[in-house]
Amino acid sequence: MPKWLENSVFYQVYPQSFCDSNGDGIGDIPGLISKLDYIKNLGCNAIWLNPVYDSPFMDAGYDVRDYFKIAPRYGTNDDAKRLFEEVHKRDMKLLMDLVPGHTSDTNEWFTKSKQPLKNELSNRYIWTDSVWEAPPQYRLMCGITDRDGNYMVNYFSSQPALNYGFYDITHPKWQLPPNHPDCLRTVEALKKIMRFWMDMGCDGFRVDMADSLVKNDDEKIATSAVWAGIREMMDKEYPECALVSEWCNPVRAIGSSGFHADFYLDHHGNGYSTAFRYYNYETGRQESFFSKEGNGDIMTLVNEFTENYKATKDKGYISFFTCNHDNPRMSAWYDELELKINFCTIFTLPGVPFLYYGDEIGMRYQSELTSKEGGFSRTGSRTPMQWTNGINKGFSTAEADRLYLPVDSRKGAPTVESQEKDENSLYNTVKRIIAVRKSNPELCGNGDFEVLYAKKNEYPFIFRRGSFVIAVNPKAEDVAVDFDYEMGEKVFEIGSAGVCDGRITLAGQTYCLFKIKNI
Ligand code: NOJ
Repeated sequence: MPKWLENSVFYQVYPQSFCDSNGDGIGDIPGLISKLDYIKNLGCNAIWLNPVYDSPFMDAGYDVRDYFKIAPRYGTNDDAKRLFEEVHKRDMKLLMDLVPGHTSDTNEWFTKSKQPLKNELSNRYIWTDSVWEAPPQYRLMCGITDRDGNYMVNYFSSQPALNYGFYDITHPKWQLPPNHPDCLRTVEALKKIMRFWMDMGCDGFRVDMADSLVKNDDEKIATSAVWAGIREMMDKEYPECALVSEWCNPVRAIGSSGFHADFYLDHHGNGYSTAFRYYNYETGRQESFFSKEGNGDIMTLVNEFTENYKATKDKGYISFFTCNHDNPRMSAWYDELELKINFCTIFTLPGVPFLYYGDEIGMRYQSELTSKEGGFSRTGSRTPMQWTNGINKGFSTAEADRLYLPVDSRKGAPTVESQEKDENSLYNTVKRIIAVRKSNPELCGNGDFEVLYAKKNEYPFIFRRGSFVIAVNPKAEDVAVDFDYEMGEKVFEIGSAGVCDGRITLAGQTYCLFKIKNI
């Protein structure tokens, strides 16, 4: 287990929207390098960089054309190498994005695989044995190549699924077992990609759709076995590198597959969703626990998280995040005070947290935008970073109509420049809470976690991390409940909290982090 993960706070960089150094309207690697000091100064010591590989960008880069080449719009492989060096100079780490489940249909492997005559890459993707064979339970593209067969897709139609085999074989004529030499060759090809970038200096990967490799594998037994093999390779050859999965099943991802961390994704109705992202679009009612409306229930998070935390805490980390490139920014439903309370909570829960670029200033979810590069409803969370109050908010010097996506041009749109100067800004709140986390080992990684107060449909939520207590009352009204500890030094407070005669009182919209005396 790489030691550095324990006190990491990640900053997610969406490269096309972060910083454009050459005035072409698209963010790039030299632009990111110029902002590393900013990220470090905010307190983040690790970066997750969304895909920067060569791609036709039908899915914003998750459709890889060439795994060994940086997309020219972001720079060159030399720029990537320099990025890793600059990151390390600052004592930071960087994870690239690994897309193991599918490629672009323009990838050379696919060009070869779709040839009508059998060749060494015929089985690199999943093909039926005839174009007339198209069982409806599989997502197949039919009759669009010269090869007599249909191929399976993993996500969009332009993303054919790589072949890691089938666990449960229902159509033996074309489904291969995971230990078929051609499936094993797919795994080796993946390892080659990983080695290439880790040799160049990246510190590991965030792994896209990590659970999608072996098909008909409901319990993920064969998929976990693939990852366990890859983890073995990492432990042997790259023990300082990390793997973070997009999976949302810590027991499988961390426990069985060897991932060092697993994202707590927004799956409708799960703990993370009911806590932070349970806005009811039909009724317009906010049903998240962490809303000032106070209609939520913390118990799904408490039960689900506690169970997963206990089951995996000795092997890896659960990663909470403020947002990512697939979700609406929380600012879509929350005001600044709610964001402060929510983010402070996220940064003091166990695991390894992730901050999505621009969330530190409360950038808007631009819901009115039409789709860009396969973004669809996700596009509004992918707009240019708002650095300054100048042209294009400092993102780029290009004409406004050449920008990757429009910059938020509303009056008063948040910028780093404005918020840095304001002690009470969201930016400075986020910066302070990250500093508190990083300077207190008890708040880092999987340090001791115990729920002290959580009840169905009730407020507040109180938990302990070592000798610290975090008491949160997101709703607008005051609450008071029994509390067995004596309050010591208050380390961080939004709103107001007090302990008296065995009761804790939290004013409406309070987050308080304090030391306890009688632990
Ligand atoms: C998950 C990624 O986060 C998302 O952006 C992408 O579209 C899909 N996987 C497909 O790769």
